[in-house]
Amino acid sequence: MNHKYDVVIVGAGLAGLRAAIELGEDTSVAVLSKVFATRSHSGAAQGGIGAALGNEEEDSWKWHMFDTVKGSDYLGDQDAIEILAQDASRCIYELEHMGVPFNRTPDGKIAQRAFGGHTSNFGKAAIKRACYAADRTGRVILDTLWEKCLQRGINFYNEYQLMSLIAHDGRCCGLVAYELATGKLHTFHTKAVLLATGGYGKVYKTTSNAFASTGDGLAIAFRAGAPLEDMEFVQFHPTGIYKLGILISEAARGEGGILRNEEGERFMERYAPVIKDLAPRDMVSRCILEEIRAGRGVGGKDYVHLDLTHLGKEVLDTKLAEIAGFARTYAGVDPAKEPIPVQPTCHYMMGGIASDSDGRVITNSEGTPFAGLYAAGECACVSVHGANRLGCNSLLDVLVFGRRAGREMRRFIHTIGFPELPANPEEPVNHEINSLMNSTGSEKSGPIRTELQEVMMDRVSVFRHKDGLLQALEAVRNLKQRYKNIAIQDKGNCFNRDLLDAIELGYMLDLAEVITLGALAREESRGAHCREDFPDRNDNKWLVHTMFRHSADKDPEIFFKPVTITTFQPEERKY
Ligand code: FUM
Repeated sequence: MNHKYDVVIVGAGLAGLRAAIELGEDTSVAVLSKVFATRSHSGAAQGGIGAALGNEEEDSWKWHMFDTVKGSDYLGDQDAIEILAQDASRCIYELEHMGVPFNRTPDGKIAQRAFGGHTSNFGKAAIKRACYAADRTGRVILDTLWEKCLQRGINFYNEYQLMSLIAHDGRCCGLVAYELATGKLHTFHTKAVLLATGGYGKVYKTTSNAFASTGDGLAIAFRAGAPLEDMEFVQFHPTGIYKLGILISEAARGEGGILRNEEGERFMERYAPVIKDLAPRDMVSRCILEEIRAGRGVGGKDYVHLDLTHLGKEVLDTKLAEIAGFARTYAGVDPAKEPIPVQPTCHYMMGGIASDSDGRVITNSEGTPFAGLYAAGECACVSVHGANRLGCNSLLDVLVFGRRAGREMRRFIHTIGFPELPANPEEPVNHEINSLMNSTGSEKSGPIRTELQEVMMDRVSVFRHKDGLLQALEAVRNLKQRYKNIAIQDKGNCFNRDLLDAIELGYMLDLAEVITLGALAREESRGAHCREDFPDRNDNKWLVHTMFRHSADKDPEIFFKPVTITTFQPEERKY
């Protein structure tokens, strides 16, 4: 079946929806999502969205910019970070006018809470900068933008899986998607495609990410010739529920929660004397694991306690109700009475499809655009988060750069006609699906996925070392070989999860290989990338973005892109 739209957006999370709203009524727009739109993972964002509104205490977008640069361990591009911090207040008031029900201060302003790494006056003290709606901030923003899209008459194709991008003469001219309910292929002919497909935390065993976070958009863009940037930087959120990885928002510490070791000690005071439990995530995750390594995990196990018992029922019920419920349901503890067992959980990917601050996917270190192809949100690397993202900067990123991508696509599509589609664009996808469906191989995707997630968790997580990374690379490449021998048991066309699991696994294997190659190449420690064999940051050699290009018959090829430094020179990162 064929469809024709000016713009096709893949992904109905906040980046995709915000871009769709920006495109305006003079543009025909389709939004594809592999889950029903309002089930997108943006809806799981809990704690808040950062902006220097100054509603609770004096603040400045320049302090926000500084914190983001320092939080990124100086790898973030400062021109893009300046846009992020400067546009944040406008973004929040826009959401307010759309109807987002933010919590309020007693005098009716948008309330703000503290979050990790956000400070006043260039690092002097923790500051309340995150605007929030209890601990369901992503949920309420997603619902609000969804309503706006319905009002605008945006066309939604829910439960459509992106299968390939169609590119011709160096220009993206459409895509092929698989309809989950029928097994039919659909070709979308378009002037511009925006990838807003989110992250890929499912590459790891313990993650806060949804099942759908398998990195499809990145892997497909990569195979189509778009480079991936800074893939070695994987964020572990310090407070996932022990063994399950379900997120306990940083807002819990923003409201006064304290991390304690086996001895009951508030250990973050030793590591970050100024902002303590509100240090950035990369540091707090490492500190938790240091405590466990030193034998101070609770009960000799590999977790510590997040103590909220002193916050009182009122705060738990009104500001942290969601996570209090998670603690009761999944950890079996009442956070008003007992501490919550927590350990780091894979939460966010700083790396992604190399793109500029107007959402254009770029093809090289000079920033040459891939005509007609755009990316925004977690699947993109702009790069505003560099080596480590600060909490509450992700919702901001997706909305600020989703809007800018929408604006740029609108400009672009009104300057050009529809590109020509190549003949039989569905043919390669048909071939891929038929090969999987007819395979008589002996492998299944489940065991391969489990082995992948385990090896990534063991060897390519918070602490890394050359030996472990080499083992991981070998394991991932073995799994890629085994993947060629995969077979599908379900031969049906209706919601064939067996087939889709196999397709997603192929994407995750490609991404895991690039993460590991990046982690091996980067012989320094910076932000979330901690090499125990190279413990120091090395600005002389590694103040660069790593870029990987796909090759059909060779290993991915590495090249580098300079970091944009405009205002803040790299300094030692102390908190
Ligand atoms: O902890 C949290 O609520 C997560 C926020 C974020 O990732 O920005």
